[in-house]
Amino acid sequence: MTARQVNFTVHPGGPLRGTFTVPGDKSVSHRAVMFSALAEGESRISGFLDGEDTIATIEAFRAMGVLIERPSSTEVVVHGVGLRGLSAPPGPLDLGNSGTSTRLLAGILSGQSFDSELVGDASLMKRPMRRVAEPLSNMGARIECAPGGTLPMRIRGGATLRGMDYVLPVASAQVKSAVLLAGLYAEGTTCVTEPAVTRDHTERMLAWFGCPVNRQGGRVCVQGGAVLRGREVRVPGDISSAAFFLVGASIVPGSDLTLLNVGMNPTRSAVIDILRAMGADIEVNNEREESGEPVADLRVRHRPLSGIPIPPHTVSIAIDEFPAVLVAAAAASGETVLTGAAELRVKESDRIQAMADGLTALGIEAEALPDGIVVRGGRFRGGTVDSLTDHRIAMSFSIAALVADGPVRILDCANVKTSFPGFPEMLRAAGGTIETETA
Ligand code: S3P
Repeated sequence: MTARQVNFTVHPGGPLRGTFTVPGDKSVSHRAVMFSALAEGESRISGFLDGEDTIATIEAFRAMGVLIERPSSTEVVVHGVGLRGLSAPPGPLDLGNSGTSTRLLAGILSGQSFDSELVGDASLMKRPMRRVAEPLSNMGARIECAPGGTLPMRIRGGATLRGMDYVLPVASAQVKSAVLLAGLYAEGTTCVTEPAVTRDHTERMLAWFGCPVNRQGGRVCVQGGAVLRGREVRVPGDISSAAFFLVGASIVPGSDLTLLNVGMNPTRSAVIDILRAMGADIEVNNEREESGEPVADLRVRHRPLSGIPIPPHTVSIAIDEFPAVLVAAAAASGETVLTGAAELRVKESDRIQAMADGLTALGIEAEALPDGIVVRGGRFRGGTVDSLTDHRIAMSFSIAALVADGPVRILDCANVKTSFPGFPEMLRAAGGTIETETA
């Protein structure tokens, strides 16, 4: 449980209608702050996610001496200090709930002259960190995790890093990014090969900041010592946040919702393919590019859905959207089978168990598998589910409640603010009825 317990109660109803902008993309916002800080000169970020995770990244760089201004909640001005300009933080860096801040920082901190220590909240302190510590150690970094391979992680300064050719054992954009960022501090070339496609925001944004990135198939390489140059970054809306409303409007009769300026990077947008394969009516309009990232406006209208076997190639590129997709599956006719998704067990919660338990509590047949879940479509009844402090579990069951037979109470929702500040307000403005209670 987090310090402030926030519970949601969502009442059945809708439809969801109107035109909205979802908050900025979390992955892009983190990288925008990090790369701006490491760049030469000033960078201006707009559309920034004013969420607890991305604020943790800002605070970490401020603690390392970077001047970061916030002219408004979604605008950030970063006075870059260059690759070698960070200074020793006064104490451990607390990254809260944010795995992305932690793992990408591990790569950056491995190349510094000073010692550092990374800590986080109860959820983050349990998440696997050897996946970054091991490859970084192979490059010469001096890193120690707690005995279970978790935080706290201690990184000794002054190590000499060597470029390497690394084949990722798990498909993880965070690990890929950590190794590439350490590669900027290493001698020679650092290459990463991924076993399945993962989000490529690091590669795109390094190139946006003028750092040469060589990509061939599933292999990406950077050169040590490359210089990043500060520039403007416009952060697109987060498709992972849009996903809750794409599912909501698909399953609530009479819905017709438009979401403006949503990031449509092909390594992130598979949720649209999955929902369309289930029968969803999603239009992609006004496709364009902003700061090296594809963006579009989405219109989604209610249409009955059918269960499907989730295509294996979509698993690594829709990984954060499965809680929402499983709500769509529960409201669909027939069976949905997800496999090859064991990574879901090591996210902010064990998302396979959290979804299986929550769906079952609401009267849906769901069977957890070691690496996935089988969901048989049915009718949600009202009840209580535990989000296990996981923002995406909390928002998924909020959407499920819209088509339930009675109100659904969702426990421990404070972390919705890590990725989607204003979620209850947007759901209300779109036509949902949600009460928040802070204990
Ligand atoms: C992220 C990568 C993904 C994702 C996370 C954000 C990123 O994690 O689940 O929410 O910004 O790089 P993995 O690196 O574990 O795939």
